[in-house]
Amino acid sequence: MKILFAASEAVPYVKTGGLGDVAYALPCELAGRNDMEVCVILPYYKSIKDNRDSNIEYVMHFDMPLAWRNTYVGIFKARNEEKNIIYYFIDNDYYFGDRGSIYGEYDDGERFTFFSKAILECIQHIGFYPDIIHCNDWQTALVPLYYRAFFEHHDGYQNIKTMFTIHNIEYQGKVPNEFLSEVIGVSEYWRDAVSYDGCINFMKSAVLLADKVTTVSETYSHEIRHAYFAHGLESVLRQNEYKLVGITNGIDPEIYNPVTDKCLYTNFGCGELKKKYENKRYLQQKLELPVRDDTPVIGMITRLVSHKGLDLVKFIGEEMLSRDLQFVVVGTGDREFEDFFKWLAYTHGDKIAVRIAFDPVLANQIYAGADLFLMPSKSEPCGLSQLIAMRYGTIPIVRETGGLVDTVPAYNPETGEGRGFTFKSYNAHDMLGAIDHACHLYHDLPQRKKLIKNIMNYDSSWKQSADRYLDVYYHM
Ligand code: GLC
Repeated sequence: MKILFAASEAVPYVKTGGLGDVAYALPCELAGRNDMEVCVILPYYKSIKDNRDSNIEYVMHFDMPLAWRNTYVGIFKARNEEKNIIYYFIDNDYYFGDRGSIYGEYDDGERFTFFSKAILECIQHIGFYPDIIHCNDWQTALVPLYYRAFFEHHDGYQNIKTMFTIHNIEYQGKVPNEFLSEVIGVSEYWRDAVSYDGCINFMKSAVLLADKVTTVSETYSHEIRHAYFAHGLESVLRQNEYKLVGITNGIDPEIYNPVTDKCLYTNFGCGELKKKYENKRYLQQKLELPVRDDTPVIGMITRLVSHKGLDLVKFIGEEMLSRDLQFVVVGTGDREFEDFFKWLAYTHGDKIAVRIAFDPVLANQIYAGADLFLMPSKSEPCGLSQLIAMRYGTIPIVRETGGLVDTVPAYNPETGEGRGFTFKSYNAHDMLGAIDHACHLYHDLPQRKKLIKNIMNYDSSWKQSADRYLDVYYHM
């Protein structure tokens, strides 16, 4: 089977969030299976071009109409022999090669419309006719529309099926109504399919027109049928629930491996708790916190935005720091939360260390050195940080939402089963209750060891999830 995996970011070339990890690890796992041919297609961003990766070679170029424009489309490619994957890059300096940022440009709608159409055009030029085009998030959400409008009767294209995966429903790709004729360039016949709530909505069209729609966890696939989670799309998802499936993400066990991770002070595996605590001491030293074995360190690595649960942390921040614990935060985001944490660090420097930065090395040192990992998200499609934390023996404290429900069942000290501490309502004192519970159990060494064993033995690799994707692909 042939899969064309289309995304706006993928490790190792470009990553701003969890999508980048998934768009690396899932294709790798699939390409390792029998009879699978997998290609990944990405925009050729400035950051990739500037890197001058000698493995990336020019393939060809052609002109493509985009409404009234005639646009240049270049194709570059790189081969990852070891993983059996070909990466294709869509080149256009105006849209990608000369832009400083990946997202957040004034014309993102147009940039990714161009990308989505180019994905389909490019198939005939590279001669890779996939069975499935697997699209991800709003940036590739126009692929099913373009397929239906222009390509489904083309030679070689007739049997292609489209899958659309929602990694985050908050970002839907909304643009003004004129966009249909001005930029997308499809006829009025398609207006109903792409219009929603007074504007053009890319994601809505994908939910409607893709053959299959998936989300990145089972629980999230149910949550987004309800208004609290769906950012307005609940009725569209309910109408299309017959083709909606939830498949929980995994993580790449080679990339996130405490046994080999070069960022750590010292490597460790399951059952080597002493070494984990060497990482804890190193972390405390590095962040200028009192070096103490007998106090739990709670880590938080996150974008500092409200839906990651930062409102709750802000509400009980001081109260939490009145406990005997240490708190370590790294991330960037909204000014409100950055300022709050800076202030907490200024007033409670012996309890909390804050780094307003995107710092992957420090992040891994926190995964390894912390005892507990806080993730109180308001909603969480899947979440990868809790999976990484578990691999590094750091016990998650999570709110029961989305993928956090599916990956972190509450620990039951009676039976010794479970993988963390959870709370249900989006309520600051419920969260504090879970933190207190976790700190209490931290001081019970046999229980702590049992729980750490559970999480470090948990299989969060892509194997099972890729099996499920394969089932769905074959079914399609
Ligand atoms: C988005 C979601 C996150 C998910 C990731 C990968 O970033 O917010 O929950 O894990 O995509 O699917």
